[in-house]
Amino acid sequence: MTLLVHTKADLAKARTALAGRVAVVPTMGALHDGHRANLKRAKEIADSVIVTVFVNPLQFRPNEDLDKYPRTLDADVAMCESEGADLVFAPSVAEMYPEGREGLTSVHAGPDGELLEGASRPGFFTGVLTVVSKLFHLTRPDAACFGEKDFQQLAMVRRMVRDLDMGIEIVAVPTDREADGLARSSRNVFLSAAERAAALAIPAAIEAAQASPDPLAAARRTLAAEPGLDVDYVAVRASDFGPAPQRGPARLLIAAKAGTTRLIDNAPIVIGEAR
Ligand code: PAF
Repeated sequence: MTLLVHTKADLAKARTALAGRVAVVPTMGALHDGHRANLKRAKEIADSVIVTVFVNPLQFRPNEDLDKYPRTLDADVAMCESEGADLVFAPSVAEMYPEGREGLTSVHAGPDGELLEGASRPGFFTGVLTVVSKLFHLTRPDAACFGEKDFQQLAMVRRMVRDLDMGIEIVAVPTDREADGLARSSRNVFLSAAERAAALAIPAAIEAAQASPDPLAAARRTLAAEPGLDVDYVAVRASDFGPAPQRGPARLLIAAKAGTTRLIDNAPIVIGEAR
């Protein structure tokens, strides 16, 4: 039986009753099969699982989709229940930020947080790291599961946990994809049929990159051939999000808009080797 709580006080009470190793799965809700993979992984690595459902206003800029971000709490709780989660914490904005945003103490990423997503969405990682550190303090987990789809976020969270000595194991869960290769995302529901077809250039670019000794050029070519996509960035970083190596294993990261919907994806690549 999954217990749903909305307040920090109820969470604290319920948390003390959880036995053994505890894993948390932080989410913004609108759970899909990608989240389900995170829930399953959490269940494998811990005795008790807490899922947080909170659409965090701090990580949205005024022109972004905070208001229309899908909110499906009943279905989210049902999925948590079916995956054997013990607790769902779904606070209100006032519960999380009772003193508002003005003067709020926050957690800033280092310089890597200014790149890619951080460059396109200034303040994004401050919003993410601030809420994730609050959620860690509130849920007191031994481990936390994050999807690899948000690869830079995963790297920023790992770095925060090391830098601030949080002592929480961060577990990466591979990206779950739809049958045609599109990475699962809560934002996919916004895509029209034509936009969804255009979005398939993203997994196609990844496939081309993985088959090429020059992955960046191959990905750029594939994306440029799709007029329905507005590419934000195509970039290569090291597998731990450090600077890209000259050769060998690395990570390709892509962000692009299909219509008004911003999509991100990433995958492992090898530089300098034909495959
Ligand atoms: O990846 C997300 O859903 C969010 O960025 C997170 C980690 C739940 C923080 O709000």
